[in-house]
Amino acid sequence: MSNEQILTLRAEVQRRPIGVFDSGVGGLTVLRELYRQLPNESIIYFADTARLPYGTRSAAEILQFGREIISWMVQQQVKMIVLACNTTDALALSTLRKEFNLPILGLILPGALVAVQKGSRLGVIATPATAASNAYRHAILEKKPTAQVWQVGCPEFVPLVEQNRLYDPYTAEVAQQYLAPLLEQQIDTLIYGCTHYPHLAPVLRELLPKDIQFVNPAEHVVAATAQKLDSIKERNTFPPLPTRFCVSGCQRQFAKLSLQWLGFTPAVEKVSLPTVALSPLESR
Ligand code: DGL
Repeated sequence: MSNEQILTLRAEVQRRPIGVFDSGVGGLTVLRELYRQLPNESIIYFADTARLPYGTRSAAEILQFGREIISWMVQQQVKMIVLACNTTDALALSTLRKEFNLPILGLILPGALVAVQKGSRLGVIATPATAASNAYRHAILEKKPTAQVWQVGCPEFVPLVEQNRLYDPYTAEVAQQYLAPLLEQQIDTLIYGCTHYPHLAPVLRELLPKDIQFVNPAEHVVAATAQKLDSIKERNTFPPLPTRFCVSGCQRQFAKLSLQWLGFTPAVEKVSLPTVALSPLESR
């Protein structure tokens, strides 16, 4: 291949979009960071709204959903995947990385790395599946064995966010219950272990002492994405394409709900994901 051909190919790869996915609007907290830190990147955002919430699903289901979504994204010629879903990271990231030949970045490791720099009494609020997996605890203790970690599964948060009940008094009541054990332990740092939860920040901040530090892993997975793009020379230096917003469920509902975080009403496509066969072991 001539030098010229190599440069043309590199430019073609740089221009490809980054695939970002979540069960719903939680991943918009990651998208927002991508817009802020990597404004030149084109993005395909997929929300698996027909199958949310993910946080009460089994590991086998989460893995299968991840496979279907990433297979579809590969067909769309993405250059990289950013998981905007902690549950998928906690339950399926290592297997997905083995099955797909493109970089897949997760939130938990970058979030844990920053959290141990901020504090040593760490509270994690997450979906029941993420909390039960102990993925945050393991990532934190690996970096700082002296840290103390308390994880709370918060099953009601995602449905409340997806129903746009952010300022419903019931949401504050539920939040108070979830935060009570963390307040009792006098945590110094709170990690948003689910990408939906930064949408609840105004409610959560009201209930916590002012000196608590917050860690939003969305900021840090995007910083890791920037580093990765630089290391593989795939950062886009050309103007980006408009973000494609895709869902498996109701387009109108997603468009309406996301307006408050995006500042515009997105055009939303409905897509059917490819069927991906289970491996023989899993189909037994
Ligand atoms: N926002 C996702 C996460 O970070 C999934 C939440 C859900 O659907 O339960 O885990």
